[in-house]
Amino acid sequence: MEGIQRIGVYTSGGDAPGMNACVRAVVRTAYAHDLEVVGIRRGYEGMIDSDFVEMTTRSVSNILQKGGTVLKSARSDRFRTPEGRALAAANLTEMGINALVAIGGDGSMRGATLLNQEHGISVVGCPGTIDNDLYGTDETIGYDTAMNTAIENIDRIRDTADAHNRLFLVEVMGRDAGFIALNCGIGGGAELVLIPENQTDLKEVKKQIFGLMSSHARSSIVVVAEGDQLGGAQRIADALKNDAKFDFIDLRVCILGHTQRGGSPTARDRVLASRFGVSAVEALIEGHTNVMVGLVGGEIKMTPMKNVWSRSKSIDYELINLTKMLS
Ligand code: F6P
Repeated sequence: MEGIQRIGVYTSGGDAPGMNACVRAVVRTAYAHDLEVVGIRRGYEGMIDSDFVEMTTRSVSNILQKGGTVLKSARSDRFRTPEGRALAAANLTEMGINALVAIGGDGSMRGATLLNQEHGISVVGCPGTIDNDLYGTDETIGYDTAMNTAIENIDRIRDTADAHNRLFLVEVMGRDAGFIALNCGIGGGAELVLIPENQTDLKEVKKQIFGLMSSHARSSIVVVAEGDQLGGAQRIADALKNDAKFDFIDLRVCILGHTQRGGSPTARDRVLASRFGVSAVEALIEGHTNVMVGLVGGEIKMTPMKNVWSRSKSIDYELINLTKMLS
């Protein structure tokens, strides 16, 4: 690769708490190496629209602790087309940007791979999604904050559930993955956890819920990942309501939704995001491209970008057994 001229940094896909800490680390590391940084607003949409902003070490002051992303984020349909990507690449070249740090989930990494393959722009990724579903890293930016937010809410739900001996179906985020649900289920003491990685059968779920609620006067919490095959908490609640056998149960649904995406990042997410940002810039300087930095066994490792979006990260099945044991 020819030397780096200017680095472009962007956040893309669903925002995640800690993305700002990562942007800050990218900018400050680049300047420490006498490299300029341009912020690209709204991810790939901004790349296509030339929505660029010069960034300095001062422009990233006081953002470390903030949720959301100062660069804004988007999901871009235009970038899915070769024409959209060609326009984005031309805009980057015009700005003198020949290296990128992409902060986002699997869609963002896929987009970065295409930019590299089709237009030769150097790309290094930083994993950022609350879902934690990226191959090549044990943890993603935002996951810890989202889990803590969800657990705090589950604790609150437990208080009111207990007061009325109610059954609560609590839905947490995770479009294709159950990392949040599984860990919140354990941390929040859920009686049952339903995740996409584990085949769930409505008959079996009903049997378990019947057992939980009929054995004694008590509350129960079922944590449901939004991507679970049964179609989410509301669907399961409807199935129970339509079955007279469950008439004795006082049932409520709580969908935590986007509350899990916002808020100030936890200490863990701030440190993780900072480490990723520093490592991404160092990787570019060392001449790496088409890789994502990740945390593997406590150390920063690089994974080929293609593996990140073409392979799936497996859930820890030991934890599934743990939920059964502890409920
Ligand atoms: O970023 C991941 C995620 O939060 C998923 O858990 C969820 O399904 C999705 O994004 C929601 O996306 P949007 O905010 O675009 O509705």
